[in-house]
Amino acid sequence: MTTKHPLDPLTTTEMARAVKTARTRLSLPQTARFANIELHEPDKAAVLAFSPGDAIVRQAFMVIFDTRTNETLELVVDLQAGEIARRTVVPVSDPPYGQPAVILEEFHTVASVCRADAGWRTALKRRGFSDADIELVWIDPFVAGNFGEEVSRGRRAINAVCYYRADAADCPYMHPVEGLVAVVDLIGKTVIELRDDHLDTPFPTKRYDYEKGTIATRTDQKALHITQPDGPSFTVDGWHVSWQKWRFRVGFTPREGLVLHQLGYDDGGRHRPIIYRASVDEMVVPYGDTGMSHYWKSAFDAGEVGLGKCANALELGCDCLGHIHYFDVPSTDDFGAPMLMKNAICMHEEDYGILWKHAEFRTGSSETRRSRRLVISFFATVGNYDYGFYWYLYQDGTIQLETKLTGIVQTAAVPDAAGYRGGMMGPGLGGPIHQHIFNARLHMHLDGQGNSVTEHEFVGQPWGEKNPYGNAFDLTTRVLTHEQEACRIADGASGRFWKIINPNQRNDAGNHPGYKLVATASPLLLAQPDSSVAKRAAFATHHLWVTPYAAAERFAAGMYINKSQGGEGLPKYIKQGRSIENTELVVWHSFGHTHFCKPEDLPVMPVEYAGFTLKPNNFFGRNPGIDVAPGKDGHSTSKGSCCPE
Ligand code: NI
Repeated sequence: MTTKHPLDPLTTTEMARAVKTARTRLSLPQTARFANIELHEPDKAAVLAFSPGDAIVRQAFMVIFDTRTNETLELVVDLQAGEIARRTVVPVSDPPYGQPAVILEEFHTVASVCRADAGWRTALKRRGFSDADIELVWIDPFVAGNFGEEVSRGRRAINAVCYYRADAADCPYMHPVEGLVAVVDLIGKTVIELRDDHLDTPFPTKRYDYEKGTIATRTDQKALHITQPDGPSFTVDGWHVSWQKWRFRVGFTPREGLVLHQLGYDDGGRHRPIIYRASVDEMVVPYGDTGMSHYWKSAFDAGEVGLGKCANALELGCDCLGHIHYFDVPSTDDFGAPMLMKNAICMHEEDYGILWKHAEFRTGSSETRRSRRLVISFFATVGNYDYGFYWYLYQDGTIQLETKLTGIVQTAAVPDAAGYRGGMMGPGLGGPIHQHIFNARLHMHLDGQGNSVTEHEFVGQPWGEKNPYGNAFDLTTRVLTHEQEACRIADGASGRFWKIINPNQRNDAGNHPGYKLVATASPLLLAQPDSSVAKRAAFATHHLWVTPYAAAERFAAGMYINKSQGGEGLPKYIKQGRSIENTELVVWHSFGHTHFCKPEDLPVMPVEYAGFTLKPNNFFGRNPGIDVAPGKDGHSTSKGSCCPE
């Protein structure tokens, strides 16, 4: 694909050029690994000024580290000149000790290091494992967090937990080996600490199969086909998408996965920008269990691994139904070799029930419009868990993000349920209590650059002159003026909500155009304020954060969260105390799900949902979906009247 726009993701050719430039200009050793390669996005002003045919400046952003020395570099490579435009050494051995994300090669390294470690093998033999059993043991590398441990301070270390398997087809997570954690130094390629207790805890033995052909499946389901005989209603030009009145560009990074750029809506012939850039920039899965195998678990799947890097190749007719447009995403492996991630992003249309309806019994008029939504999605598998990230655009101007949580629980061996803090799922098999908290980063551009955020609540009024009948209630409005004031928590009882508005414009009702952030009052981080995870995942302590745009402030938990002791990201950004009134804004929204495990989570969890909605509020002059054409699906059939005779 040729580059048509400054925000187009790097092509495989550009990635190869970036790698070659880095290798030759810096004489990189064979042990250099490429943790991240992506487009170095140009300034917003340059993007907004761009017209088709203009020259495009292309730069690559890269994070490189040496698996022998752990020397870590950030580079910006000028692709036209073949020069290094910026080179920064990342001080990974100094506070806050943050490291680049774990790469795939290291996941394999962990398994081989454990298997070669005499102490680790002895620990399994003491639990009754034979050499043959040990060969089948499933080793799960799991990011270690940072609890100030001497042994791994400033080192590129990761933990490994393990599971028994009766054979290669047995689901390992059903048989956790409790109390055995190997701390692996990924640079020295050795076990630097072996934590070993709960020797007498047996691993659960009950088997739970789910793969095709291993269990009987139901036979009473008839075919359901989605047909679009005239094709889809969207058009795609490179990375640009038009669907009905929506316009946007698709982007992708190894860390965030799917990115939506320049999302806007055509309103009566006028294109109106809404969001400049939207992504899920970080997430954390903190565990509430104090057991030796679990207390340190708090995976940041974006910053510590990479949601984009873990994207699935989606399958037509299984993952996605209907007329699908897949985007293949250029990427590189750990060694910098370019490759194409086939079918990484899926885009299609879905019927979504009723958009609007009114039946007028006096006149016999009856009007119904069906709702159609455009779905742009990808799925990331990070170890045992699978996360779907689904952006939905609706015909009434609504924007929605839905995350789908599925996959397999990180389990625990629990011989005695009494006093167990988590949920018992099967005989001797527990699921530690844990949370999944996501952060969406929304770089706003609502009708232009100058935006503000307002907070609103519904308040019942006391009896008195303004409430003589006791029924009165009002909507409050206040502008959030500074970033420190804008760390806010949702409140279902007062219906608290926030709006992103453009205070420089007014609609014909006299109000500033805006979009309402519909947040669910989902649980926030439950760990204690001074705990390790709270320092690292401070973004998860509030539903809302608002900062003025700054190019370097990209991630809610900071640039290098892997092994970091924390304090980076949002809590640091807002210390600057900047104004957020009538300026270029980034809205950061944390939302999620707290998971108390249950038998229905076995062996693969039914999808759980978390997300948020942005709804136009004073943005349009009327229901923007009022002009959707009436229609009847000629393929629908009915079997007579609803009522028995
Ligand atoms: Ni969960």
